[in-house]
Amino acid sequence: MATQTGITISGPNEPYTVVDTIPRPTPGPTQALVKTLYVGLNPVEPFMQHTGMLVESWPAVLGSDVSGVVLEVGADCKKIKKGDYIFTCVPVGISEFSSFQEAFLVEEDWVFKKGDSVGLEEACTVGAGLLTAGLALLDGQGLELPAPGSKAAEKDSWVIVMGGSGSVGRYCVQLASLAGYKVLASCSPSKNELALKAGASATFNNRAPVEEQLAEIGRITGGKFAHIVDTSLMALDLSVKALESISKASGAKYLATVDDWSEMTVPDSLNLYRVKLGMLGRTGTEQEHITAKIAEMVAVFQAHIDAGQIRPLDYHLVDGEGWEAIIKGIADMEAGKLPKKPVVKAQSE
Ligand SMILES: NC(=O)c1ccc[n+]([C@@H]2O[C@H](COP(=O)([O-])OP(=O)(O)OC[C@H]3O[C@@H](n4cnc5c(N)ncnc54)[C@H](OP(=O)(O)O)[C@@H]3O)[C@@H](O)[C@H]2O)c1
Repeated sequence: MATQTGITISGPNEPYTVVDTIPRPTPGPTQALVKTLYVGLNPVEPFMQHTGMLVESWPAVLGSDVSGVVLEVGADCKKIKKGDYIFTCVPVGISEFSSFQEAFLVEEDWVFKKGDSVGLEEACTVGAGLLTAGLALLDGQGLELPAPGSKAAEKDSWVIVMGGSGSVGRYCVQLASLAGYKVLASCSPSKNELALKAGASATFNNRAPVEEQLAEIGRITGGKFAHIVDTSLMALDLSVKALESISKASGAKYLATVDDWSEMTVPDSLNLYRVKLGMLGRTGTEQEHITAKIAEMVAVFQAHIDAGQIRPLDYHLVDGEGWEAIIKGIADMEAGKLPKKPVVKAQSE
């Protein structure tokens, strides 16, 4: 059996270890084998390393956002071919699909092809953030995007993004404004510019007392909103209060959250959607719905990315190259030392 290098962990809370014994996978008919070039780091890496959640088998290879070059394709691949550059968020927790190794498998329907509108480094800031935002707003709240290259009619209604300065949050801001909504983003005052640059019309201070935040939401929107996404994990109560007491919407009200693991209840009057990107590629009814939705969204978003209507995020290129640089990048991300989305060069072509 051919083997390759990469990073594994042997169990929950075990250290990242650089090894050369990872089985090199072979692509199935609609799959490709992709060489990892750059990886984007996400909070899900330390989450999985510490808790073991989402991991299907041990030892586990981790890794989520990635850009790379196609080495080999299965017989039925129609979209990608050898030599293409692709980017995506892999199905996390399944080792052969994970990106912290020399080469990993992709299903061709789950990946974006890199065109001229996106660079190879910045491409790995897109996958997890955009697909999570897409699940929250398109699958969870029924927002509709205009045809690629065209502009949606402007709506006299707001979408509120809690955590609009973060990776997922900025894609929520981009998608909601592309759909024609005005967007109000919560963030630290020092990060206003990030949310505004992504397309937010206004921001408010996410560290202010709750009553102050509610007052700001009311003052800015005039109660004209029925959609909130909480990407911060910190704003569930605030979101419920805003929808229940500030929103003047007469119809359905929507709350989406990226927290899919905590116990939570919300009033029956609200449509709660919990994003479960981690279900991509797994078996079961809900998992297969998520997987089909992602394939559908990848096709739609690809056209918007190519048209320059969905843009990658600003990023921080971590010093160095290779597996040790990735391990150091994760430690720096966990220590809060990296204010922008961390990107690491894994390998040269
Ligand atoms: N369920 C899923 O399928 C799924 C998928 C992807 C991601 N996630 C989760 O989504 C979360 C966000 O991911 P990300 O990559 O967007 O992270 P990120 O870039 O670090 O963004 C975090 C956001 O939360 C805000 N925030 C942090 N602390 C806060 C506080 N005390 N009060 C209010 N807001 C606060 C930040 O705002 P400021 O920095 O401006 O204060 C920022 O906007 C992570 O927990 C991740 O694990 C879940």
